Amino acid sequence: MSQITTIDRVGQFVGQMVTIRGWLYNKRSSGKIRFLLIRDGTGIIQSVIVKNEVAPEVFSATDILTQESSLEVDATVRADARAPGGYELQVSDMRVIQVAEDYPISPKEHGPSFLLDNRHLWLRSSKQHAILRIRSHVIQEAQAYFNREGFILFDAPILTPTACEGTSTLFETDYFYGEKAYLSQSGQLYAEAGAMAFGKVYTLGPTFRAEKSKTRRHLTEFWMLEPEVAFAELEDILLLAEELVCHLVNSVLTYRSEELKVLDRDVTKLQSVVRPFPRITYDQALDILREKGISHHWGDDFGATEDTIISEQFDRPVMITHYPVQTKAFYMKGDPLKPNLALCVDVLAPEGYGEIIGGSQREDDYDKLVERLEQHNLPREAFEWYLDLRRYGSVPHSGFGLGIERTIGWICGIKHLRETIPFPRLLQRIYP
Ligand code: 4AD
Ligand code: MG
Repeated sequence: MSQITTIDRVGQFVGQMVTIRGWLYNKRSSGKIRFLLIRDGTGIIQSVIVKNEVAPEVFSATDILTQESSLEVDATVRADARAPGGYELQVSDMRVIQVAEDYPISPKEHGPSFLLDNRHLWLRSSKQHAILRIRSHVIQEAQAYFNREGFILFDAPILTPTACEGTSTLFETDYFYGEKAYLSQSGQLYAEAGAMAFGKVYTLGPTFRAEKSKTRRHLTEFWMLEPEVAFAELEDILLLAEELVCHLVNSVLTYRSEELKVLDRDVTKLQSVVRPFPRITYDQALDILREKGISHHWGDDFGATEDTIISEQFDRPVMITHYPVQTKAFYMKGDPLKPNLALCVDVLAPEGYGEIIGGSQREDDYDKLVERLEQHNLPREAFEWYLDLRRYGSVPHSGFGLGIERTIGWICGIKHLRETIPFPRLLQRIYP
């Protein structure tokens, strides 16, 4: 009897017969021997078929096998130090499930738009595999971290009546008669209700920005992880952000080193990501820009160029705090000592990967919040429920949003976000 198993587990079956189910990655032949590279989603293994050790029809079937044909093999597992992964299969039987049509993706170079059109197949290649495995790991590890720290997972709605991050990137839907509805830009406002109910919560879900510009750092649909903490001030969430980021990077270094190898990631760059992270204010960031010969108008937000120059001064993520209030969202609390500055933070990844976290202390005073809504021309009726949070037991509270794709891009060393999510949604891409 042969045991059905997966390639990542064959090491437990050395000398025994196993069945592996998968797809043909590549093949080559040498006289009376065929070498099939089989992948099954957990790994790739070389399978050796010797002419006089299998039935004639099994041996001849190897000739019709094309790349990505699906198959099952019964084989004996052999330890082989020279084999990638350390094991090899000696095949005794093979069943072809489907012979694949000419596969459009070959080892030769393809352009990005061809690959994106074939994203549903591109996912099978080893680089994409490594990135998405790291993504899966990071999301699970972040959730494990919050669960350990006593946070409640608190799902925010996707369809919302209000803007959270400014009205210029809102996605409008026309489903709710007589009332506007938008795809959520952030789960934050709902997370604040959660924090007042549970103390510490986090949301994790897709968020949407109708970004009008085509950049490698912006997706129209991306995932955000947003902790929100009652009784926390800016300082508290700076510490939380630092600890979370260090934990995630460390965990990938420990458990996903094979994937980092596939991606050719310089891990020494990730190893230097340790606490404490440097902290600078917006004004100090302007000084850095000035030293680099870039003049920046006080009061304007930073763009990709500024973010890159600032982050390149440090070997680990840098936290920029105290932006001018006018550059930031309506809900941010002003610094009591300098009310024109917000108690906020942007965390920029090193090596020019851009902003991975945006967060702040929230305005917890009812009157000031009403004023801020007016200044931002936001319709008060839609925010009455949010104002209730300041009417009934308002407390200082803070939180942040970590962009999953930006974080994965940085950890994996991938400059364009399109490869960091299974099916990217971009300004000009909805297919597949
Ligand atoms: O800085 P942002 O806009 O902050 C918020 O949405 C807050 N409401 C979060 C909070 O305090 N709970 O977005 C947070 C992060 C950014 O730092 C960035 O990593 C990512 O989300 N992000 C994007 N990622 C990909 N594509 C886009 N278009 C993104 N916009 C923001
Ligand atoms: Mg931001």
